[in-house]
Amino acid sequence: MAKRIAILGSTGSIGKNALRVIEALGAGYEVVAISAHTSVELLAEQARRHRPKYVGVTSADYVEALAELIGDLDLEILGGSRSMVQIAELDEVDIVVTAVVGAAGLPAILGAACKGKRLAIANKEPLVIAGELLVREIKRSGGMVLPVDSEHSAIFQAMQAGSPEEVNKIVLTASGGPFRQATAEDIRNVTLEQALAHPVWEMGPKITVDSATMMNKALEIIEARWLFDIPVEKIEVLIHPESIVHSLVEFIDGSVVAQLGTPDMCLPIQYALTYPHRVAGIAKHLRLEETGALTFEKPDMETFGALSLAYEVARAGGTAAAVFNAANEAAVQQFLAGTIKFVNILELVEHCLDRHEVRTGVSLEELLEADAWARAEVSELARGARRAASKS
Ligand SMILES: NC(=O)c1ccc[n+]([C@@H]2O[C@H](COP(=O)([O-])OP(=O)(O)OC[C@H]3O[C@@H](n4cnc5c(N)ncnc54)[C@H](OP(=O)(O)O)[C@@H]3O)[C@@H](O)[C@H]2O)c1
Repeated sequence: MAKRIAILGSTGSIGKNALRVIEALGAGYEVVAISAHTSVELLAEQARRHRPKYVGVTSADYVEALAELIGDLDLEILGGSRSMVQIAELDEVDIVVTAVVGAAGLPAILGAACKGKRLAIANKEPLVIAGELLVREIKRSGGMVLPVDSEHSAIFQAMQAGSPEEVNKIVLTASGGPFRQATAEDIRNVTLEQALAHPVWEMGPKITVDSATMMNKALEIIEARWLFDIPVEKIEVLIHPESIVHSLVEFIDGSVVAQLGTPDMCLPIQYALTYPHRVAGIAKHLRLEETGALTFEKPDMETFGALSLAYEVARAGGTAAAVFNAANEAAVQQFLAGTIKFVNILELVEHCLDRHEVRTGVSLEELLEADAWARAEVSELARGARRAASKS
């Protein structure tokens, strides 16, 4: 029987690649549902090409426009913020690819986890916010989570060389983003255009900015902590500008097992769909003789303060990661809108963490409350800063 797949965030960078991968896999893989937030024209094009049974649009304002575009097709349109959850919980879906940006994907991921689905997770933020809760639900329901983030997919693949007890440490590689060699002073003058110019990966704007602040790696540290149930002290970051070694696992005997490949998200997406099998696919094959030297260096934890913060946040547990993630998401939105500077992103995140009293052993509602508080705090601070700037 074909594997029936839903893609949440089908119009984004990961979502589009997931559709390409599924199309190339051919028989045996069927797109049952797709969803997006506002990009209805692209969503309609995807619906015509892939013929899913369900199409979701989370922004209720766009339902009518979507209906006008694909009203002639034999499918069901789901609208509003709950549409992602409805899709994730469909009995007709075996695998849910979550490629939504930010915390918005959390309720749907939790829904799929409770229903025992296979989750192919690219969307790291929900794991950061509610990792403990999600992992517990997945274990209880007999579901499965397969990472799509290239680093976590690499770790997942390398982990198969030993048992979890035999792992000494995990080494997450990072390209270092566009400001790898920048000083703290250079970073003060970064423009939006410079922050959006990633040297290796082509991604959506939020994750590209996260890559420039190294917040992306910071979130990945917390993501790895939950995905692999490993203490954060056993997770390290290594800068590897060529982005060929996607991450490594060191075992207790000193052996280091790494996964290598071209910087192409189609490979981890495909592996999450075909696991435990490997099949030929569309990802470009690696030619080591063409890559030249592979280099590694320690990250500058002072210039990229997000990394040190991630360790503190992971150790604090409870609501700390929800505040960390939400403050970053809200600050990145402000930066993308041109209302704050690049350096203000981390300052705002630090400010929220300083003011927040961490609570542990909390429910999803309490995590979401902490998330909402941090977003409100960031928008209040940014408003205050704008008022002060306009007076001076
Ligand atoms: N891109 C990569 O190479 C990469 C690699 C590793 C991990 N990731 C992770 O994968 C996730 C997606 O990244 P991306 O680069 O594909 O992002 P992206 O290109 O910005 O796409 C985001 C997708 O999410 C949808 N979306 C946005 N806001 C939403 C909301 N409030 N509710 C529901 N859907 C919403 C968008 O729909 P509209 O088009 O309608 O706005 C779009 O389909 C992120 O968590 C990122 O960290 C990405």
